Amino acid sequence: MTLLKQFGASDISTRKESNGMKLKIKLPLLFLVMFIVFMVSIGIYLKFIFAAYSPISSSLLNPSYIGLLFPIFAIACFIFIILIMYIYFFIEKPIGLLNTRLERINIVHPLPPLALRSNDEIGDLYNHFNKMEKRLQLAHKEQTDIIAAIAHDLKAPLTSINGFAELLAMQKGLSENEKQEYYELIQKKSKYMAELINDFVSFTKEKQDLESMTVKPVDASKLFENIALEYEYELSGLDCELVYKHLFTGNVMLMVNEIMIGRVFGNLFSNVVRYGGKNELKVYMTGYSQGSYAYFEIEDNGTGVPDKDISSLFLKFFTVDKSRQIENGGIGLGLASCKSIIEHHGGEIYAYSSEYGGLGIKFSLPLAKH
Ligand SMILES: Nc1ncnc2c1ncn2[C@@H]1O[C@H](COP(=O)(O)OP(=O)(O)OP(=O)(O)O)[C@@H](O)[C@H]1O
Ligand SMILES: [Mg+2]
Repeated sequence: MTLLKQFGASDISTRKESNGMKLKIKLPLLFLVMFIVFMVSIGIYLKFIFAAYSPISSSLLNPSYIGLLFPIFAIACFIFIILIMYIYFFIEKPIGLLNTRLERINIVHPLPPLALRSNDEIGDLYNHFNKMEKRLQLAHKEQTDIIAAIAHDLKAPLTSINGFAELLAMQKGLSENEKQEYYELIQKKSKYMAELINDFVSFTKEKQDLESMTVKPVDASKLFENIALEYEYELSGLDCELVYKHLFTGNVMLMVNEIMIGRVFGNLFSNVVRYGGKNELKVYMTGYSQGSYAYFEIEDNGTGVPDKDISSLFLKFFTVDKSRQIENGGIGLGLASCKSIIEHHGGEIYAYSSEYGGLGIKFSLPLAKH
C-alpha cells in the first residue's frame, strides 16, 4: 500500500499539470531569438562593410547587399529548421513520452517496457526507467507475497489454538491429564507463532542491513578456519560432526562482510542439524579458489531433498515438508536469505544432491582484485 501510494498512478500530486511554458515552445522560441539576433548582426556587419567599400550606395536595398545576405539567410533558416526538428524528435518527444508513462505508472498491472529509442542520454534515461519500474514491481510482489505468507503461516497455529481453547471451555468433563495436554499444545503453537514473527522481523531487518553493508578484504583461509572452529564445537554438541578441508593459500583475499557471510554458514549448518534426520550426522565443509572466485561447499550425509524440490529451495517461504515445519520450526527464509547475501557480494549459490547422501550447497565469492 505504501509502495502504491508512493509510486502508484493514483497519487494525485503526480498528476498536477505544470503551468510553466513547455519545452516544445521554449526551445523553438529560444532558437528564433538566436536566429533573429544572428541575422541582424550579420546584416549590420555587412552593411558596415558595404558602407566602407562601396562609394555608390550603402542602402539596405542595394542588390549586391541583398544577394549576399540571401544565401546566409537561407542557410540559417535551414539550420534553424533542422535544429527544431532534432529537438522535437530526439529530445522533446521522448521526454514527453516518458512523462506520460510516469503519470500512468502502475506496478500492479505493469505496462510493456518503454522501447529504447537511442543510445544517448535519453536512451539511458529510458533504460533506467525500465529498470526502476521492474524493481518496483518486484518489491511490490515481494511485499504481497510476504503478507500472504505471514497470513498463511499464522493461520494454521491460530486455528489450532482456537480449537484447543474452545475444547477446554466447552468440554467440562475433561481429566486433568487431558487439560494439561491441551494447555501444552496451546503453549507450543503460540511459541511457534512468536518464532514465526521473530523470523519475519529479522528477515526484513536483514534486507535493510544488506543495503548498507560494507565489505573489507578478508583472508579466505582465515575466514574458512574461523568458521570451522566456531561451528565444530557447536555442531558436536548437537551430535553432528564437522569435517573440513580447504585449499586456500595465504594470499587469497575476499572482499566480504564477515558477519553476513558468517550468517550464511550459520543458516546452512542449522539446516543440516534440523533436517539431517540421521543419527551419525556429518557435515562436510570444503573451500578452494578457481579463476577469480573462491568456492565453498557445505554437504551432509542426511536424508537430503527430493530432486524435484532442489530448484525451489532458494525461493522465499519454500519448505519441503510443510507438515513437519512446526516440529522443525523453519518458515523457509534461511536459504532465500543466504542467496540474497551471496548475490549482494557478487557471487552465486546453488543446491545439489551430495555424494554423501544428503544435500549439498555450493556458493562462490569474488576474490579481491590486487
Ligand atoms: N540440509 C538439508 N537437508 C534436508 N533438507 C533441507 C536441508 N536444508 C534445507 N532443507 C529443506 O529446505 C527447506 C528450506 O530451507 P530454509 O533454510 O530456506 O528454510 P527453513 O529452514 O525451513 O526456515 P528458516 O531457515 O527460515 O528458519 C527446509 O524447510 C527443508 O525442508
Ligand atoms: Mg533454514
